[in-house]
Amino acid sequence: VTVAAIVPAAGRGERLGPGQPKALREIGGMPMLVHAVRSLSRARLVEQVVVAAPPDGVSQVRALLLSYDVGAEVTVVAGGAERQHSVALALAALPAEVDVVLVHDAARPLAPSELADAVAAAVIAGHPAVVPGLPIADTVKRVAADAVADRPDAGEPVLATVDRHDLRSIQTPQGFARAVLAAAHEHATEVATDDAGLVERLGVPVVVVQGSPEAFKITRPLDLLLAEAVLAQRRVHGAL
Ligand code: CTP
Ligand code: MG
Repeated sequence: VTVAAIVPAAGRGERLGPGQPKALREIGGMPMLVHAVRSLSRARLVEQVVVAAPPDGVSQVRALLLSYDVGAEVTVVAGGAERQHSVALALAALPAEVDVVLVHDAARPLAPSELADAVAAAVIAGHPAVVPGLPIADTVKRVAADAVADRPDAGEPVLATVDRHDLRSIQTPQGFARAVLAAAHEHATEVATDDAGLVERLGVPVVVVQGSPEAFKITRPLDLLLAEAVLAQRRVHGAL
């Protein structure tokens, strides 16, 4: 079995505020993308990595990954306008021998290598689609959001409290049999928020395995503080 990882890294990072594309911003003095690629290349089962870079930054990203010792064999392609397009473009660049594909956000730079291995192992064991997930900590309520969308100060009426015992917050790396992921992207008509969402539309079963708190996504400025704290703690424990 040959396992490759795709890393969508072509987003702008609008919610993080002005600056470089998100994947190129640093945590612990190193770009998020480098953290993500290093962690994947340390995974025992991952043999190669394809990065989807911002279209105007492909050569910059290539040079960046060369300047750090990222380990695995890394290819860089231009990403697209939506995350889903970036994944499809990277998928098209995979060599024929790859039969298992992990898709992992550059925006989850601290996801442990062990998580990538666990997801890949579950695919190799026979699951066509595997996603890491965690229980939801907060109480979740459904609100009449559309009814007050034009009146921001109105307060959103609560319709119900959702039973969260069977809800999961989904992370990456997500793992797929290559043929399943390719078919899901070929048949995609609308944009889904994750790759497993496209696979579900094909009617192919998707399973959730235990995620990792350290696989959180860096979306807003506060997430950067958490990432710095995690790295500081890893340094104290000699894990870097
Ligand atoms: N991504 C991508 N191509 C895009 C958009 C997003 O490869 N056209 C990647 C991002 O680089 C990120 C991952 O998909 O690694 C998850 O997306 P998100 O967290 O939304 O990142 P951004 O789109 O960069 O952030 P924002 O939505 O705040 O602009
Ligand atoms: Mg985005």
